Amino acid sequence: MSQDKKDWYKDAVLYELYVRAYRDSNGDGHGDLLGVIEKLDYLKDLGVDAIWLLPLMPSPLKDDGYDVADFYNIHKDYGQLADFKLLVDEAHKRGLKIIAELVLNHTSDEHPWFIESRSSKDNPKRDWYVWSDSDKKHADTRIIFTDSETSNWTYDETTGEYYWHRFFSHQPDLNYDNPELRAEVKKIVKHWLDLGVDGFRMDAIPYLFEREGTNNENIKETHDYLKELRSYIDEIKPGTFLLGEVNQWPEDTIPYFGNGHDEMPLLFHFPIMPRLYKAVAEGKRGSIDWIMARTPAIPESCQWVVFLRNHDELTLEMVTEEERAFMYDHYAPEPRMKINVGIRRRLAPLLGNDTRKIKLLNSMLMTLPGTPIIYYGDEIGMGDNIWLPDRNSVRTPMQWNDSPNTGFSEADSLYAPVIADDDFGFKKVNVAAQEADPDSLLHWMRQLIKVRKEHSALGRGQFEILLSENQAVLPFLNSHEQDVVLALHNLSDKRQKVNLDLSRFAAQSLSDCFSGEQLATASQQTGLELKPYEFIWLSIG
Ligand code: NOJ
Repeated sequence: MSQDKKDWYKDAVLYELYVRAYRDSNGDGHGDLLGVIEKLDYLKDLGVDAIWLLPLMPSPLKDDGYDVADFYNIHKDYGQLADFKLLVDEAHKRGLKIIAELVLNHTSDEHPWFIESRSSKDNPKRDWYVWSDSDKKHADTRIIFTDSETSNWTYDETTGEYYWHRFFSHQPDLNYDNPELRAEVKKIVKHWLDLGVDGFRMDAIPYLFEREGTNNENIKETHDYLKELRSYIDEIKPGTFLLGEVNQWPEDTIPYFGNGHDEMPLLFHFPIMPRLYKAVAEGKRGSIDWIMARTPAIPESCQWVVFLRNHDELTLEMVTEEERAFMYDHYAPEPRMKINVGIRRRLAPLLGNDTRKIKLLNSMLMTLPGTPIIYYGDEIGMGDNIWLPDRNSVRTPMQWNDSPNTGFSEADSLYAPVIADDDFGFKKVNVAAQEADPDSLLHWMRQLIKVRKEHSALGRGQFEILLSENQAVLPFLNSHEQDVVLALHNLSDKRQKVNLDLSRFAAQSLSDCFSGEQLATASQQTGLELKPYEFIWLSIG
């Protein structure tokens, strides 16, 4: 894979990393940037190409850094700007890219801009936020954090007005109608690009503008602004990786790609994610077929980004009522597992720690259209701690070895307890143990990533779901130039036979991408058999 290609991200595998959880280099109980540097070789060996770092900026941490109090610095727990530059340099030396988090929609209420803004109606920063004398405006705008907020407006006593917020009430939304604010945002972006970042994961972008009579999501003004920002970024660092967090249905997400060159090059595919879990719970492919049929083609230069889990709840916003009820029923048997509109658990516990299912979902992650992201710790099958509040359940220390504090830190007290239960505790689930075991999930993940990268079709290919009478098997093709990969997934707990019409590849051989063994020859009735939860990747040609 050439890292220098303009669209390098199409062949890449990404890794989402929570710095606080990764490695504490100075023994204060919090992971930090120098700690991440210690682990770059591990990430390189895993085979990932770029690391998305969760928010790094100074913050009161009421939303783990998504409540920014200073856009130009590093949170003291994480180190200093010099450490960040060092991390970028060390990553680049190893051919790894660094993606920073950019939270544009809102700030912390402790940000000096907001402190000024709320101080009086004629303060110069007043208009940097969204104020109103009524909390009745925009009544049709949904509430996102349904467990903690009852309104998108909060009353502020100092001036007797309400301020607008799409997330927590301590996260006032910025007012993008204000040209001074827009100029400041450009400075922020330039600051981080000058520090050497390769790109940004852009938080909550559908909500930047508000307009009377709309639901304030995906509106034209927001798209126009994102285009303005993209064109600025293109001027100073063309080819910057920009990944938009747009948790919407495909038809509302696609407009964020713009014409392919003027808005977001990359967007998460949110609605596919819960349906992978649903399909494996039901043992049938229907929900995946349905959402992929509802996913239109995207511009050639753009890319979907797919994921199984992340630092938030497994969101159930982009599903139907029925699907949501099914997911809660199946994956959140304890009330504590739910939060807002989602489930706050990790991959391995969600799948009952069944290695066959964990591998099946990872196989889908690596073969569905787009660029995959692995959430830290999922490569070793880490567990969660639902007794921790909010989404902290899935943000516990990375499990490196079986020593006290699991090699994460030498401190007496940690930002969060390490997982210590029987199934997922650090004595059992840790990197060192898995390094030593050739049959471990970690070794398997490395192999999976390596084989994915041998195929340009995975990442760049034309995607096509094939028909099969057997609803328990999901077969799809990815084709790019001469490279054609047929991936089959048995979603059920039974052996399954499937017959595929591969007449268009008549007489070509189908060989297993992992072993190289020829398994069949393409014909009008190519018969294949899969064990329970088995997946097969076949190279055609
Ligand atoms: C989305 C982020 O992923 C989430 O963690 C955060 O709480 C909200 N945006 C608000 O910034």
